[in-house]
Amino acid sequence: MRVSLLAVVSCIGLASAAPRPSPQWSDPPPDPANVPQFFAAETALNECPGYSASNVVKTDSTLAADLTLAGVACNQYSDDIRDLKLLVEYQTDKRLHVKIYDAALNVFQVHEQVLPRPENENAPSSAAALQFDLVEKPFSFTVRRKENDEILFDTSAAQLVFETQYVRLRTRLPKDPNLYGLGEHSDSFRLHTQGYQRVMYNSESPNIPNGKNLYGTHPVYFEHRGDKGTHGVFLLNSDPMNININQTEAGDQYLEYNTIGGVVDLYFMAGKQPAEVSSQYAEIVGFSAMYPYWTFGFHQCKYGYYDINMVAEVVANYSTANIPLEVMWTDIDYMNLRMDFTTDPNHFPLKKVQELVRTLHSRKQRYVLILDPGVKAVGNYSTYEKGVEQNVFLKHEDGTDYLGVQWAGAVVWPDWFAPNTQKWWQDEIASFMDPETGVDLDGIWVDMNEASNFCQDITCNPRKKAEDEKIPPVPTESPRPNTGRPIPGFPESFQPGSSGTKMVKARKSEPLHRRQSSNGTMKGLPDREWFEPKYAINNHRGKLSDFTIYTNTSNYDGTRQYDTHNYYGHMMAFATHSAMLARRPEVRPFVLSRSTFAGSGRKVTHWFGDNESSWEHYRTSIRQMLAWVAVHQMPMVGSDVCGFNANTDEKLCARWALLGAFQPFYRNHAEESAIPQEFYLWPVVADAARKAIDTRYKLMDYIYTALYYQTTTGVPMINPLFYLYPSDANTFGIQHQWFYGDALLISPVTTDYSDTVTYYLPKDIFYDYWTHERIEGHGANVTVSNVTLTDIPVHIRGGTIIPFRANSANTTTDLRKQDIWVLVCPGADGTAKGRLYLDEGERIEQPNVSEIEFTWDGNKLNTLGSFGFQGGNGGESITVANVQVLGQKMGKRDIKGPWKLTEGFSVSL
Ligand code: GLC
Repeated sequence: MRVSLLAVVSCIGLASAAPRPSPQWSDPPPDPANVPQFFAAETALNECPGYSASNVVKTDSTLAADLTLAGVACNQYSDDIRDLKLLVEYQTDKRLHVKIYDAALNVFQVHEQVLPRPENENAPSSAAALQFDLVEKPFSFTVRRKENDEILFDTSAAQLVFETQYVRLRTRLPKDPNLYGLGEHSDSFRLHTQGYQRVMYNSESPNIPNGKNLYGTHPVYFEHRGDKGTHGVFLLNSDPMNININQTEAGDQYLEYNTIGGVVDLYFMAGKQPAEVSSQYAEIVGFSAMYPYWTFGFHQCKYGYYDINMVAEVVANYSTANIPLEVMWTDIDYMNLRMDFTTDPNHFPLKKVQELVRTLHSRKQRYVLILDPGVKAVGNYSTYEKGVEQNVFLKHEDGTDYLGVQWAGAVVWPDWFAPNTQKWWQDEIASFMDPETGVDLDGIWVDMNEASNFCQDITCNPRKKAEDEKIPPVPTESPRPNTGRPIPGFPESFQPGSSGTKMVKARKSEPLHRRQSSNGTMKGLPDREWFEPKYAINNHRGKLSDFTIYTNTSNYDGTRQYDTHNYYGHMMAFATHSAMLARRPEVRPFVLSRSTFAGSGRKVTHWFGDNESSWEHYRTSIRQMLAWVAVHQMPMVGSDVCGFNANTDEKLCARWALLGAFQPFYRNHAEESAIPQEFYLWPVVADAARKAIDTRYKLMDYIYTALYYQTTTGVPMINPLFYLYPSDANTFGIQHQWFYGDALLISPVTTDYSDTVTYYLPKDIFYDYWTHERIEGHGANVTVSNVTLTDIPVHIRGGTIIPFRANSANTTTDLRKQDIWVLVCPGADGTAKGRLYLDEGERIEQPNVSEIEFTWDGNKLNTLGSFGFQGGNGGESITVANVQVLGQKMGKRDIKGPWKLTEGFSVSL
């Protein structure tokens, strides 16, 4: 690599309320000439009367008031609701809750079971970091940071509109604010601030288009104001919505929520450091689950492994190429006619799948399969028949099954609210995953759960569509011949010339069950326009019911898909998580879900869906990761490495193999018609992957430690640069670099087919990860050229200590047997610190863990903390064999051990 210093980037003045960053946007900002129609209705809404507050009652930690429509109803998009209530709670000294809801309590509110509300500690308002101030007439409110009088939220920007199918709340913001979050999207990490819209409506989104609603809904944003602090705002509302971020003609900046239902349920998080906002958000939506150690291994998947021999061959090829493969996946190809909980008798005969899994497990590898929510509505299919008997599917009002189309053809959809659904799903999973009679899986991938429906609109006839379009495709009768080559390491039945067995299912009748209609409180107003409400959200798939479950469909408890659509996938993922837990209560479940809702991270993981094999999406994966981990509290995330749709190529795949190794979830996956892209297929990609995985594995305890702390504190395991340099305005827009953990700065090549990268080095001490050379960062850009396809610039931030495994291994099980080394990287003041968390890796209850703190005072390393983990039965090493200290007069110094981490030790230079 060749390094040259570019001109120092000057810090832009901090005079305005929001220091302005130097953005690294790779997507163009919205075209102002093309301001969408949804901004246009503004003038009509100016006629709306707003509300006035009365009967204001204050306690030490609350404020309550009545809000009454302050004039003639404007009924702009539906009927104005006359009587509202305001509730303000100082829940903790850092969290303020502001809720505006209908006095009659009929308007839909998010189910507690989906998002259990955080505990209210009733903090005294006098001690709170934030201050709520009310203007009674016309009603508006502000939220202020007391310490410096920064106004964080100010709804006087426009009057509140609260109608039966439209709610509008607008806040003023400082000009060109630094906003992050509002996922799921593929847009810039630091959000655009003019003519920009975020739509919350979960949808299947091929090629993850910019500026559109994608698979998940996370209505939370963080706003960073440099030294003046960072805060967060979460709108707990699941209804479809447009969030508009724009400036008025007079130049006033605003953010505006426009929902077509639900209440205004806002949580304000005071920060004041960025990582503190992350923690405070975790306190609201839940802390992430701890995932098994092995989930950090490398995963391989492809849609289009048509035959179990192909699957085995891929596994064997990875071994032959000497590229560690931890987890093998199979897509819908394994199913019989795309039906959940079946295996294709010809191409994936059950006995052979069992043999595959046994072989993988004997090699300490894992296996994951996919499930879709659409259950084929066909007789002689026990999953469907049991579901019908147990009344678990969504229904039309007349009690007949509500049908749609998914991979399996005409399908019914589990109603996650029905009382028997969890048990039915759990039983199906338990029986399918039974090690004796089924497939002994290690994890489950739930897909298409937005829910994606191949029916394009409400005129669809699902049975006809499935028939006309041959969904699923007619299968080939005979097993596809395997390649004729031996598959090393696999049993006899995988060798040329063998075949498998068929599965047979019983047929039963289809009873009818009627559905109740909406009753009880907070389940949603009756008689709404379910398909085309007058205020339209800007759903890129069309109308509300296009390509999804129709929004008029009622759930078992009387709520409607209209209000709950955005957490259908979340509920499927959680039901799957519970089923996994019921099967093995002692083991941390691994569930990967395409669709998510705020709080999904407390149980499940996510990948960024159907990206494409392009440099653009290679870059996009970085900004998506930053938002998911740091803002949305979903740490175990990643993109389809080398890209899903279209064909990848050697250079892109080599770079992506390196990029993915420094992201939490690391899976190579491609679409059916895309060329194969396993890492071993090109020599240079294989080299890049070997280096990437070797490095990732050596660092696995370091990142596992970072995950552990995210699960316990909410502090993210992946850090945007401004998290660690919150005063440096140059970092606020950076979205092509990140900290892996809090010590390793990753600066990949991001230009198409280039070997040059320009990255930012904050004003600090760094060390080149590969050469250990000490480098001074000047708060400036650095350009490096000749970065080969097997290189990725990585710097260690001074002041940190990194524990790592001395050697990598073929599997994470063997990795844990390697000795530990400790790398001390002193900062400008000569000191450093770091942490190491050790446990058994897979179990929920961990009676013996170690939480070790390393400190370096310039001369001596101290290890303190708890030392409960003694190594498991698998021969894990807890020996520190070597301590390396960087940046010393003589360069690097080694101090040889060993020291056993059964107790603290100290060592001096
Ligand atoms: C969806 C998924 C993709 C999967 C395909 C087939 O498009 O997003 O990952 O390969 O379905 O199951």
